[in-house]
Amino acid sequence: MAGNDLELLDGLIADQEKVFLARTGESQRIRQECADVLPGGVASNWQDAPPGAVWIDHGAGSHVFDVDGTDYVDMHGGFGVGIVGHAHPAVVAAVSDRVRKGTHFAQPTTDSVVVARELARRFGLPMWRFNNSGTESTMDAIHLMRTATGRPRIIKIEGSYHGHHDSVQVSVYPSADAAGPFARPNSVPVGTAVPKPLVDLTVVVPFGDLAAVERVLVEQRDQIAGMIIEPIMMNIGLIAPPPGYLADLRTLLHRHGAYLTFDEVKTGLAVAPGGVTEWSGVQPDLLCLAKALGGGLPCGAIGGSEEVMGWIADGKIDQVGTFNGNPLTMAAMVATLTEILTPDAYTEFDRLGEILREGCDGVIERTGIAGYTTVLSGRGAVTYRGERVRNYREYLEVSDELAYVNWLVQFNRGVFMAPWGKSENWTLSVQHSEEDVRRYVDNFDYLGKALTA
Ligand SMILES: Cc1ncc(COP(=O)(O)O)c(C=O)c1O
Repeated sequence: MAGNDLELLDGLIADQEKVFLARTGESQRIRQECADVLPGGVASNWQDAPPGAVWIDHGAGSHVFDVDGTDYVDMHGGFGVGIVGHAHPAVVAAVSDRVRKGTHFAQPTTDSVVVARELARRFGLPMWRFNNSGTESTMDAIHLMRTATGRPRIIKIEGSYHGHHDSVQVSVYPSADAAGPFARPNSVPVGTAVPKPLVDLTVVVPFGDLAAVERVLVEQRDQIAGMIIEPIMMNIGLIAPPPGYLADLRTLLHRHGAYLTFDEVKTGLAVAPGGVTEWSGVQPDLLCLAKALGGGLPCGAIGGSEEVMGWIADGKIDQVGTFNGNPLTMAAMVATLTEILTPDAYTEFDRLGEILREGCDGVIERTGIAGYTTVLSGRGAVTYRGERVRNYREYLEVSDELAYVNWLVQFNRGVFMAPWGKSENWTLSVQHSEEDVRRYVDNFDYLGKALTA
């Protein structure tokens, strides 16, 4: 089976790393030079993946250009932000217009109302507030669930990432040794920054397992404020929920007086105009957005039912931030939602996604690589495991080496994917063409042939 010959695979990785390093000399030079002012030589730890950080010069349409002058089809999409592509004329016009009129007042501007109404229409939740990142959105959601219930604990899924605030820096990518029993996972802090009493307030369950959630709700009666979940998991490849799971989860939580938050920071606006909420027909009590919503500007939003958001309106909870509703971001959001991410955009994502799915599954079939392709409109991934992955423990069995070598081959042959191999997936933009996505398939075919050589 292709990919099983470890010697061949290691050789291929070593060859591709050499090509990578030869192509990215300027990136490496800058990184070394700046390490005295930027810790680790990057602006965020996630920008530094093996074999090295790639410094970008600019983007145009569906392409990015690195500081060595190399042109790539961009399927990284800035970790899922880039659904509008680079320098989309509608975003450029909206932001240019706004920049001339002043970019910050810390007072509301009318674009916020346009965006809130459009999000209410798409996601079916009536009330919205804004912030500046996915992290702030999930933090606001957890504050709201705690305030609304007066309860301290939350439930989160093992292997899910919801940003870098303390309550969710638990069991993100725990090691197999630390993770504990499958049905009753340990709450494993990320690093050493989160104090133990906070870690203990976050209870961890496997994805897709209703019984585990019910057990927590019964055993910790009146302790659980609610559950935060990425309704389609997108930080351990791409895992859709089992049929009925999301609806049953909502019923179960409500029966125990707890709330349901969908973290749609990655999925919202990517899998359907109204995210997984539309895709599944299940309405959460709270919904977190960020990433693609801002058309490339820093952004975040939280939507909720009148009941839960009423805690903000009544002043029982301060949902605040100097940059909340920033006019520049709001102008970009209006353009993104009303001019760019139209129903036609999703029809085209589906068409391009199908070319990717058919092409990659064709290579898998011809070469016997253990894997499968998942496509959900603007997002997709090849997962390197024979059987479909359903939860974090199965994700641990996905081949790191195959994911890494594909990342290298794609990069060296002109397709820039999000680093961190098996955890990530691709992002399409409205500016991608058939030629762009066929380049990905051709590169994958090249890899398949190299693995069966
Ligand atoms: C599902 C999910 N939630 C929250 C976040 C945090 O978003 P941000 O990096 O904007 O704080 C991320 C970031 O990748 C994410 O994938």
